[in-house]
Amino acid sequence: MSLKQMKKIELHLHLEGAAPPAFIRGLAAEKKIDIHRAFDERGHYAYRDFVHFLQVYEAATSVLQTPEDYARLLQAVLQESAEHGVIYTELFVSPDFCGGSDVAAWRDYLAALQSTAAEAEAKLGITARGIVTCIRHFGPDKARASALCAAETAGDFITGFGIAGDEGIGKPGDYLWSFDCAREAGLRLTAHAGEWGGPQSVRDAVRDLGVERIGHGVRAIEDLALVDELGERAITLEVCPGSNVALGLYPAWRKHPIETLRERGLKVTVSTDDPPFFHTTMTREYEELERAFGWDEAIFAEIHRNALDAAFCDTATRDRIAKDMELT
Ligand code: ADE
Ligand code: ZN
Repeated sequence: MSLKQMKKIELHLHLEGAAPPAFIRGLAAEKKIDIHRAFDERGHYAYRDFVHFLQVYEAATSVLQTPEDYARLLQAVLQESAEHGVIYTELFVSPDFCGGSDVAAWRDYLAALQSTAAEAEAKLGITARGIVTCIRHFGPDKARASALCAAETAGDFITGFGIAGDEGIGKPGDYLWSFDCAREAGLRLTAHAGEWGGPQSVRDAVRDLGVERIGHGVRAIEDLALVDELGERAITLEVCPGSNVALGLYPAWRKHPIETLRERGLKVTVSTDDPPFFHTTMTREYEELERAFGWDEAIFAEIHRNALDAAFCDTATRDRIAKDMELT
């Protein structure tokens, strides 16, 4: 079986970050919005560094203005994921971008997303769940509004709450109210940390916010006592190696710590983060991991087991995916 055909689980995918550049350019043309600065001469997203990446990401997102725009985007994203063998995916969605964190507007966006996801499940055999995500550099007040949207709509589709954005701004503890609000609504929790922040950022997210998964978390490798703590707490890492290499966190795939973290017993998983920005796909992630570390079917099965164990879905869904992937 080819790596492309292998059935996969993805836990860390930003919906807007998965938008193909041509899709965004098409919407921009329809709406007569000039965002040519977001692209290079070949039509790829163009950014200099992480902070500029976030700015380009938000410029691209500015053309997504209605529930229908988001429905079209989700349809395209799920189609692409399914083509790369993904049968279960969790998507980060932000009320900040979907109706400005107004609960009534958010409900309209969510209805469009949920019906698109149901259609994709029936037609393409891919199951999707949503993780409401606040944006760190938008600050704690905006995060509270997002958490309230999440709490109001927690259920079959919205199953998690998280935080993305610029780790250089503030501390995880600044967002405690939002995480408590989401937890009380029954949502499962994850936080981006240990990407641009060092090991302490991971420790803070785990201890102060009580998350069960960390987005990235790879810089935990710089503090082996923390690696042990993550192991004891059974924290799962949503590792996005291609994203880390593309953004210059590591100079090459072979230098990426995913294999060392796995060997030390941590529960690692593999995702693409924002695939067109990083010229990646789930297939490419798998191919590069095979090339860099000699990962084989047994290791990919271990990764799938980790992902399924940490997935923010109900038991019936988990059992169905396990059966489909022949995971025991
Ligand atoms: N938002 C989209 N991609 C992100 C990343 N890699 N880190 C933080 N926030 C993000
Ligand atoms: Zn991310």
